[in-house]
Amino acid sequence: MIILDGKIVAASVKESVKAKAALLIREHKKTPHLAAILIGTNGASETYVANKVKTCEEIGFKSTLLRFDENVKEQLLLDTIKKLNVDDEVDGILVQLPLPKHISEEKVINTINPSKDVDGFHPSSIGKLVQGLPTFIPATPYGIMLMLKHYKIDTVGKHAVVIGRSNIVGRPMSILLSQNTNPGNCTVTICHSRSKNLTEICQQADIIVAALGIPGFLKANMIKEGAVVIDVGITRVADATKKSGFSIKGDVDFENVAPKCSYITPVPGGVGLMTIGALMMNTFAAAQLKIKN
Ligand code: GUN
Repeated sequence: MIILDGKIVAASVKESVKAKAALLIREHKKTPHLAAILIGTNGASETYVANKVKTCEEIGFKSTLLRFDENVKEQLLLDTIKKLNVDDEVDGILVQLPLPKHISEEKVINTINPSKDVDGFHPSSIGKLVQGLPTFIPATPYGIMLMLKHYKIDTVGKHAVVIGRSNIVGRPMSILLSQNTNPGNCTVTICHSRSKNLTEICQQADIIVAALGIPGFLKANMIKEGAVVIDVGITRVADATKKSGFSIKGDVDFENVAPKCSYITPVPGGVGLMTIGALMMNTFAAAQLKIKN
């Protein structure tokens, strides 16, 4: 069993983006610039956004963090996005999800200029992804593809089971794995909370991507010997032994599943780290796109 080490792969991705950014800065006087919008004080969102901003610094990108109160008016948020859309200084825009209930996620995502949509959530980005056209790929599935590529995991003709159909992970993941690319060329089954016979379906999988957000959901009896298991779960679970008061748990019962796997991602230290690397690649691509145009 081989552990897919997000730390190593993400460090290599970041190094490569840093070098490319240095070239862009030197030759085109263009520093990639990510604008992140954070609403409210959700602890997990705060941590994710702080890590995104910190990574920008580490690799020589500019970043702007715009914070809004939980009760911010939807219109103010949309107007802010519109300003960032036309700000020549800004290459990538992301609005951290989830949003407070009174704000329409659909309106927010649709307002982001697709040429700055580094999260890849705009319908235009998803539409291009489905058609196999160049576009921004949502960071978590993109990070997983980079990881599969780094470890040269053979995916051709394999049965991949994706558990979870969110627009952020499951659905784009299923599209990427089915594409005629490397990695890719899988036969993909997408499962969700209404799927019947989930255990039997998972038992047939060569590759499982668990992205449902239920800690420890995927058990050893649900996988076949030699499966590749990718754990996207990052749930905070109360843990009195930790200074923070919580620990991060994945969707996979790692201890019992790992011995049966050929490859498995740990939590923490797996997919989560890749997500930021992938976001940086998208932000770099956005900056490069601007120069080309
Ligand atoms: N919330 C959870 N994952 C993501 C992500 O990839 N992007 C944004 N903007 N919000 C998220």
